[in-house]
Amino acid sequence: MVTSRIPGFYKLSLADRRRAAAEVLGVPVRELDAVLGALDVRAGGLDTKTADKTIENVIGTYAMPFALALNLQMNGRDYLAPMVVEEPSVVAAASNAAKMVREGGGFASESDAPIMISQIQLDGVADAARATSAILARKDELLRAADRAVPNLVSRGGGARDLEVRDLGDGWLVVHVLVDCRDAMGANLVNTIAESLAERVARLAGGRVGLRILSNLSDRRCVRVRCAIPPHVLATEGYSGEEVRDGIVRASQFASRDPYRAATHNKGIMNGIDPVVIATGNDWRAVEAGAHAFAARGGRYAPLCTWHVSGHVSGDAEPTLGGLGPFAHERAGWLVGLMEIPLQLGIVGGTLRVHDGARLGLLAAGVDSAQELSMLCACVGVASNLAALRALATVGIQRGHMALHARSVAIAAGAKGELVERVAQAIAESGHVTIEAARAELHRLDRGMVDAAE
Ligand code: MEV
Repeated sequence: MVTSRIPGFYKLSLADRRRAAAEVLGVPVRELDAVLGALDVRAGGLDTKTADKTIENVIGTYAMPFALALNLQMNGRDYLAPMVVEEPSVVAAASNAAKMVREGGGFASESDAPIMISQIQLDGVADAARATSAILARKDELLRAADRAVPNLVSRGGGARDLEVRDLGDGWLVVHVLVDCRDAMGANLVNTIAESLAERVARLAGGRVGLRILSNLSDRRCVRVRCAIPPHVLATEGYSGEEVRDGIVRASQFASRDPYRAATHNKGIMNGIDPVVIATGNDWRAVEAGAHAFAARGGRYAPLCTWHVSGHVSGDAEPTLGGLGPFAHERAGWLVGLMEIPLQLGIVGGTLRVHDGARLGLLAAGVDSAQELSMLCACVGVASNLAALRALATVGIQRGHMALHARSVAIAAGAKGELVERVAQAIAESGHVTIEAARAELHRLDRGMVDAAE
C-alpha cells in the first residue's frame, strides 16, 4: 500500500530519498539508480544513442530535476506524483498544499471516458444541410470503417464511438469522429482515422477534403476535481485560517473577472500539471493547448480552478461539478476548490517506449489507466493553485521563492554538503539572496570550522 506521507523527505540526502521512495514503491533501489543514473553522474533515463533515434539533429540530451510530490490523497488512496520541473518551490508548494487538502479528506476526482476528437475538414460543400444528413445517415458504416483503421485499439477495448457534423458556414463542414483511445494519448490513432475516412465523407458531402487531424481541445476527455479544506489548516503566520480562506476566494474572483489574472492563475495550475505530464512521457504542448482553449470556451478566458466557501454561495445550494458534490464530513465555512480540465494523457506508447525516465514516472505515479493518471495530474494542478493563492493572499510568493532560490545561490557560491542549507538559510534570513552574501557567509562558516578545529 503506497503512502504519500514521508515526513522529513526533503531533509534526507538524495541517496536516502531514493531508498525511501523505493521502499514506498516496493521496487529495489538499484532500479531507481539504474534509471536515474549513479548519484554523481548526470543522467535521466535517456541515453544519447536513443535520443539520436528519437528526434532529428540531436547533439545530446538535456537533464531536468526529477522529484516526487508527497501527501497526495485522491479518492481515498495515497499517490506519489512524479514531477520533472526546473522551477524552485513548485514541488514543495504542491506537496504542502496536498497536505492541507488531506486534512479535509483529500481530493475527490472523476474522469470522462478517454475520448479524443478526430477532425475532418471539408470545404466547397454546396448544401451543408443535405451533406450533414448524408453523412449522418451513414454514421454506423463510417464508425465501422474507422474501427477497421485501428484494429489494435479495437482489440484493447477502444474504437470509434460517435460521429458529429458541424457547419462552419460558407460551405465549410467539419466532421468529428469521437474515438475512445483507452490508455493511449491517441494522437496517432485519431489522425489515422481522420485520414482513412476523409475521402468517403467528402464524397458523401459533395465537398473537398481539407485538414485531417486530431483536435487538442479534448473536451470529451475532461477530469473534474473537488477538495474541501477546514479553514484552520490554512492559517499562516499573522493570518487566521478564515482570513487566508477569504483571501483565496477573492483571488479566485479576481481571476474570474480579469483574463490577465486568469492567465497567471492558470499558469499556477499548469505548474503542477506540466511536470507530471513531462515525468510520465506525455505531450505537454497538447495538454497546454487543450487547457487554455477550454479556459476560453465561454468566449472569455477564465480560471480553470475556482474557490468558494462551502455553504456560503449567495444562498444557493452548494455547487456540484459532474458527480462531485460535498463530502459527508464537510462543514459550512470550509474552503472548496473545483476544477474541470481536459487532459489528453497516455500510459502506453509514445515516449514511454523509449524513455526509461518516463517509465519510472509512471511507476512512481502507481496508476493503472490513463484516466487515473489524468485525475492525479489534475489534483496536483489544484494543489499548485492552492499553494500559489495562499501565498499571494498572505505574505506574497517572493519569501518562499527566495528561501528556495537561496539554495541555488549557495551552491553557485561554492557551498557543498551541509553548508548548502546553512548558507541558504543565513542569506534568506538576512534578505540578501546574492552570490556575494553567500560567499561572505561561506567564508564566515569556513573560518568558524577552521577556528573550531584549531
Ligand atoms: C509562478 O510560477 C506561478 C504564480 O504566478 C501563480 C499565480 O500567480 O497564481 C505564483
